[in-house]
Amino acid sequence: MPSDVRRRRARPEAAAAWLIRHAARKGILDRLAQEMQDEHALDERRSSREPVRYLVFSASLRADSLNSRLAALAADTISALGGQVEVASMREFDSPSYDADDQRDAAFPPGAESLRLRLESCDAFVVSSPEYNASIPGVLKNAIDWVSRYRPQPFNELHGLLLSASPSMVGGNRGLWALRVPLEHLGARVYPDMFSLAQAHNALADDGRIANEQLQERFENNIANFMDLVEAATHYPCVKRAWVEYLGEQPDPLIDRVESTAV
Ligand code: FNR
Repeated sequence: MPSDVRRRRARPEAAAAWLIRHAARKGILDRLAQEMQDEHALDERRSSREPVRYLVFSASLRADSLNSRLAALAADTISALGGQVEVASMREFDSPSYDADDQRDAAFPPGAESLRLRLESCDAFVVSSPEYNASIPGVLKNAIDWVSRYRPQPFNELHGLLLSASPSMVGGNRGLWALRVPLEHLGARVYPDMFSLAQAHNALADDGRIANEQLQERFENNIANFMDLVEAATHYPCVKRAWVEYLGEQPDPLIDRVESTAV
């Protein structure tokens, strides 16, 4: 054993001093301080939140879905930021093609019933949806169509965040613009910023996070900002009123755009 190591073993305080000097030289102390600061900021953001429930699901049915991986990352992020998360699978909401005769003659299918109950039990939803032919996957549109026939209509006034993942260079973003249309028509408060993960087959690391740290940070900020709005709208009605006015509606309970237009 080298003599300087023997000396440090014999005198633990000398070993500690050496360790601190060594760590300072290597910039380890600065990094540790930064990590502690980040953790503290996260704790502050987490502990200052009011309880809000989020339904998180992927609109893909396949087992190795990239969107399911992005939805899982969203769920973890929301939990880490102090939100209460309910994770669901699109399989749960899969329903036979909408048929008005079935709606009239039979009960709603279990998939539609499940989506309705899930939406009603949450304050907001987050969906990560694949883009099929520059639009919405049929399974999701069909589930939305079924749920839109319930009264009260569950999407009305519910906050939503849209995510997408695709191997393409634009990450399925066009599909999200298509998805906004029925959701906004139904009165959902769709968050303006959407997140689309391009080249998602290479972008997600084995630990489930986005490998590019800058992109991962942007994803987290997108979610945190959405949560700020949902929390404010859920717990501070004056903000909700401002949001409704921003969307161009008068906050008048007598005017129910959705009930009167969803024919
Ligand atoms: C696709 N895909 C695709 N991707 C894209 O970026 N834009 C598109 O318009 C389409 N269109 C499309 C149509 C159909 C019928 C399929 C099956 C696929 C590719 C798609 O984004 C890719 O398969 C994703 O991996 C699907 O999402 P999940 O299942 O991985 O979550």
